[in-house]
Amino acid sequence: MAKEKVLVTSALPYANGNIHLGHLSGAYLPADIYVRYKRLKGDDVIYICGSDEHGVPITITADKEKVHPKVIIDRYHELNKKAFEKFGMSFDIYSRTSLPIHHKTAQEFFKCYYDNGLLIEKKSMQFYDEKVKMFLPDRYVEGTCPRCGYEEARSDECEKCGSLYEPSELKNPKSKISGETPVLKETSHWYFPLGKFQERLQKYIDEMNKRYGWKENVLQYCKGWFTDGLRDRAVTRDLDWGIKVPLNNAEGKVLYVWFEAVLGYISATKDLSEKRNDPDLWRRYWQDPNTKYIAFIGKDNVVFHTIIFPAMLMAWNDYNEDKYILPQNVPANEFLNFEGRKFSKSRGWGIDVIDFLEIFPPDPLRYTLAANLPENKDTDFYWKEFQSRNNGELADILGNFINRTFAFAFKHFEGKVPKIGTLEDIDKDMIELLDSYPEKVGNLLERFRIKDAVFEMMNLARAANKYFNDSEPWITIKQNKEKCATTINICLNTVYTLAEIFEPVIPFTSEKIFKMLNAKECNWSECGKLKLKEEHQLNPPEILFTKIEDKVIEEQINKLGVVEEQTQQDEEISIEEFKRVKLKVAKIINAERVNKSDKLLKLQIQLDNEVRQVVAGIAKSYEPHELLGKNVLIVANLKPAKIFGLESKGMILALDSDEEGKVKIIEVDNSIKPGTLAK
Ligand code: MF3
Ligand code: ZN
Repeated sequence: MAKEKVLVTSALPYANGNIHLGHLSGAYLPADIYVRYKRLKGDDVIYICGSDEHGVPITITADKEKVHPKVIIDRYHELNKKAFEKFGMSFDIYSRTSLPIHHKTAQEFFKCYYDNGLLIEKKSMQFYDEKVKMFLPDRYVEGTCPRCGYEEARSDECEKCGSLYEPSELKNPKSKISGETPVLKETSHWYFPLGKFQERLQKYIDEMNKRYGWKENVLQYCKGWFTDGLRDRAVTRDLDWGIKVPLNNAEGKVLYVWFEAVLGYISATKDLSEKRNDPDLWRRYWQDPNTKYIAFIGKDNVVFHTIIFPAMLMAWNDYNEDKYILPQNVPANEFLNFEGRKFSKSRGWGIDVIDFLEIFPPDPLRYTLAANLPENKDTDFYWKEFQSRNNGELADILGNFINRTFAFAFKHFEGKVPKIGTLEDIDKDMIELLDSYPEKVGNLLERFRIKDAVFEMMNLARAANKYFNDSEPWITIKQNKEKCATTINICLNTVYTLAEIFEPVIPFTSEKIFKMLNAKECNWSECGKLKLKEEHQLNPPEILFTKIEDKVIEEQINKLGVVEEQTQQDEEISIEEFKRVKLKVAKIINAERVNKSDKLLKLQIQLDNEVRQVVAGIAKSYEPHELLGKNVLIVANLKPAKIFGLESKGMILALDSDEEGKVKIIEVDNSIKPGTLAK
């Protein structure tokens, strides 16, 4: 097959916090696996990423720490770059949007639209904080939703009920900077007329989908946007952190972060051109219709990559000779959760990549995440699963096969690839299987079915173990050495195929295996052929995977505990809000410890005529038997959750822990009937 020219990007992470496992599963690991595979296939690939360094999330972090945003972005750019490196991300460049090359690029796009009369200037009323003399972006204003009464609504949007309204409708607005009541002040912004592009966008997505098969989840998001109808979008903001609007009458205005961040992919490629001293490099990818451009992202970024960015490129192409390509596919993933809940920094729920890699090597993490990617629905990272993927799959299946093969080769064949002899059916089948593998796995990777591809990879290792067992080399070595030699030859060649097929997922291990094989990787399509020649000298084996003990995993799980959200102040709530909480009496009819947790108890509780399971963090305070038959108070209508993989429906009320960390459950007199409502 002809060589493909491929441009791959992963969403540019905000430089205002650490990369956690959820990020990796969404937009980074799948892209890296795809890129590594394409490189092995001999395609011409570049892989682009970098920090997204403007926008309100960054200024909020900076305000919190009372430092300049530059301090924040410098810190997190370096940290994230390092974390990605340690994780084995093979970016060609990890650039940043604060670079002059990016500012220039973004301003060029804006100017092009402006000069051609595409942008519309509109006046609107925005909140203004008179104390600090600045316009307040959405997230800097909090007030009461005019529709549902939610008290933490943003200036023009309520997260609770999802309604959109004019800032003037928000009740009781407060500036998050000064705490003062902001005033509404007129300002003007430039709008990009997205609606003008709706028809072309729909056609574009339709066509790409027909030709290349887009993911169903992505198509659904787009459909939703089209049904609502695309509207003008403001592409400027009143803020001082960001890219200056390149016009004379635009003091204090910057480009909206999303408008410029997507262009960061282009300027990062220009940055790469400079670094490689190859000024035209970026054009060879971005402006060649033969380039296949794949944008990897998480689901929250879909609209920006399938609608806004393509519309921006279309608009540029309308007015210029040098035309950009559009994404050919946007294989967005859903989210990865952590032990049944959303990652939450403030609640200490989850783990950052940097911290993870201080304790464990990268490959077991890459493998675990890859085997469980949220390709079609949200998935979870569980510590226990990580342990069992490492111990039960990487070590016991893949590692074991390679170990026993090498052990045999060194013990009986002087560390050389023995001669292949007469082939029996079992050998022929194995050779055929090896030969079919590159294409089988490749086809899945080409279609971004990475999880399935990873499953197939491990299946080859499974088949290899079976071949070894069924061939019984420990018997044939005594009775028929020629046959034994054939088996070990095929096994060593299988190790070679495995090393290459697994390279995109576990590159560090793969490198070690190639070193043991004293061989280099070949073109992907060839790696299922018997590549190792007779008499080829091997290097002594190394340890590939270390088993992870229970206590190491328990330590991690215990770090999480059952973290409850800390509220700083006693916030006032209305009686209606309180009434939504259903407090009921429940009788504990069974209690037992949760395996491997010293904090949790699994309880069966009875309400009126219903028995439910609740997982409660009270194991340090009560022995299970002490609880039997007790009447307690529970929150009955709490959303069910999975804690430690166990269903939990409701929450037992307890009094806050004392100095020794013990809590006291709220007991109710035993004469009260279970199910009774407390008001
Ligand atoms: N910084 C954004 C996020 O983390 C992603 C930006 S992707 C880009 O959600 F294309 F706009 F850069
Ligand atoms: Zn609301």
